[in-house]
Amino acid sequence: MFSSHGPSVRELAVQGLSSVERGYDLLAPKFDHTPFRTPDRMLDAVEETLAQVEGGFDAGLDVCCGTGAGIDMLRRLCRDRITGVDLSAGMLAEAGRAHADDDRVDFVRADARALPSALAQTYDLAVSFGAFGHFLPAERLTLFSGIHAALREGGVLAFPIGAPLPLGSPLWWATTGFDAAMRVRNAVWRPPFVMYYRTFPLGPVREDLRATGFTVETLPLEHFGRRPDGAPHWRLVLARRT
Ligand SMILES: C[S@@+](CC[C@H](N)C(=O)[O-])C[C@H]1O[C@@H](n2cnc3c(N)ncnc32)[C@H](O)[C@@H]1O
Repeated sequence: MFSSHGPSVRELAVQGLSSVERGYDLLAPKFDHTPFRTPDRMLDAVEETLAQVEGGFDAGLDVCCGTGAGIDMLRRLCRDRITGVDLSAGMLAEAGRAHADDDRVDFVRADARALPSALAQTYDLAVSFGAFGHFLPAERLTLFSGIHAALREGGVLAFPIGAPLPLGSPLWWATTGFDAAMRVRNAVWRPPFVMYYRTFPLGPVREDLRATGFTVETLPLEHFGRRPDGAPHWRLVLARRT
C-alpha cells in the first residue's frame, strides 16, 4: 500500500496518536506517497463527469485540499480564482509548492467547519475528496452550511461517494475494524483523531445536504463499474445551491 517513499510504521503510529491537524502536518511531506491521497483515477473520473454535465465554472474551491489533489482539476474546469482550504499548515505548504506557478491559485488555512466569511458567495464549484471521514455525523450540517455559504447562487458542491460495502466482504471487515479501533483509540487517548470510514452513507448525507438548502442529484461514475445488483460502485454527488 505504501511506496518506499511513504511513512514508516513508526511515523504512522506517531501521526495517529496526534490531533488531526498535527497528524497531517507530520505526514505532509510523504502524503503523496500514501494511499490516503485521492488516486488520479478517481480525480479523472470526477473531472470527466463534471465536464460532461456542467457548462464550465468561474471560481473553484477544494475543501480539505490536503496537498492539492483536486487543484489541477479545478485549474482545468474553472476560468478564474481557485482556492484550496485545509486545516493543516504542513499540507498547505506542500500544496503551495506544487502550484506556485499559477497565480490564480491560493490556499487558505481554515477549519472546514468554520470557513472564513471572506469566502462567502464566491465559488461556482466546490469539490472535496477523501476528507469527510474526518467529520462526525453531528458536524455535517455545520460543514455543509459553510460550503453552501461559500457558493454563489446556482453553485455546485461535487464529491464522490462509494456504494455500501457488501456485508462481510474483506473491505467491510477492514473498514469496520479500522473504525472500531479508532473509537477505542479516541475513548482512551487525547487529542482525538477523528477519522472513520463508515460514517458518511449516502442516505443521511443526502438528507443533511437537503436540510442545508441544497438540491441533490447523483450520477454514476461508470469508470468504476457496477455491483452485481446493478448499483454503481461509485457515484458523484452534485449538491446545488438554489
Ligand atoms: C485524507 S486527506 C485528503 C486530502 C486531499 N483532499 C486528497 O484527496 O488527497 C484529508 C485532509 O483533510 C484535512 N482536514 C481534516 N479535518 C479538517 C477540517 N476540520 N478542516 C479542514 N481540513 C481538514 C486534513 O488536514 C487533510 O489534508
